[in-house]
Amino acid sequence: MAIKNMMIDLIKKLPKAELHLHIEGSLEPELMFRLAKKNNVSIPYKDIEDVRKAYNFTNLQTFLDIYYAGANVLITKDDFYDLTWEYVLKCVENNVVHTEIFFDPQTHTARGVSFETVITGIKEALADAKQKYGITSCIIMCFLRHLSQQAAFATLEEALRFKEDIIGVGLDSSELDNPPSKFTEVFKKAKDEGFKLVAHAGEEGDFSYIYEALDLLAINRIDHGVQSINSAALMQRLKEEQIPLTVCPNSNIALKVFETYQQHNIKALLDYGLNVSINSDDPAYFKGYINQNFINLCEHLPLTQKDIITLVKNSFRSSFIDNDLKEAYLAKVDLALQ
Ligand code: ADE
Ligand code: ZN
Repeated sequence: MAIKNMMIDLIKKLPKAELHLHIEGSLEPELMFRLAKKNNVSIPYKDIEDVRKAYNFTNLQTFLDIYYAGANVLITKDDFYDLTWEYVLKCVENNVVHTEIFFDPQTHTARGVSFETVITGIKEALADAKQKYGITSCIIMCFLRHLSQQAAFATLEEALRFKEDIIGVGLDSSELDNPPSKFTEVFKKAKDEGFKLVAHAGEEGDFSYIYEALDLLAINRIDHGVQSINSAALMQRLKEEQIPLTVCPNSNIALKVFETYQQHNIKALLDYGLNVSINSDDPAYFKGYINQNFINLCEHLPLTQKDIITLVKNSFRSSFIDNDLKEAYLAKVDLALQ
């Protein structure tokens, strides 16, 4: 399907919010090489071409193995600053004016890199993004679900020292066999501490994982959630309660959640009336930032201009910013449309 220039223009000109972005997943191969050399960390690639060839995934786990290996090059506060700053520049390029980024503290603390090093680097880059470009942001820390709930409790404990910098907690990593129910108590504690709650659910795991995230973890947003399509009752509930789903099309294709863009169900979810938004997940690994996600979908699915506008407005509506800022951003979208 040839995508009309008009659609590409619309995608580019609309200010957008991104709600599902792993900062470690924005590590471009060029920066990976630079940091590997600087920090004397060995990586299993001889050149950038070799890296690109390795990014040939068959499911979530084949990606995660490579993603965690890549994160090993991140050691100092400046490394986390540079990583985040490169993503900020992509936000500028993609007209992302508000972003809520995930980081995985356990990926770094397990290697002896302190929680403080990680969060300070990220936070300083985001402060500069606000100052230089007016980009607003929040930070969400994710528990690695392949580790224990006890390890998540220890991470939550550490995070309390940086509570004012972290708006919420999430749940990511290997979904299959690590259901939300494994983390019920730690999410309860995070809620009591005042954190917003999100969880990856229904990416590879079936729709029962989405029910668990809603009913046991009391999450505010579902990350991915595309498997909801397999339960009519769940679809009805997600629609009634307008629970946001942060969908990541390029990721879903790269990790073979859907074989092709034509088979992606975002149009069906949207037409049913669910609150879905478009996000880039791990853009350095999945060939493209947020605009490319929109463009790839439009090339293969009959998304209308109205659909694009709804997806973009949903991104602001579902964000964790206060209502005044939400209204201001929604007004900016309307202004861009005039
Ligand atoms: N960590 C980074 N990207 C992820 C994804 N798509 N699913 C689960 N965990 C992740
Ligand atoms: Zn994700």
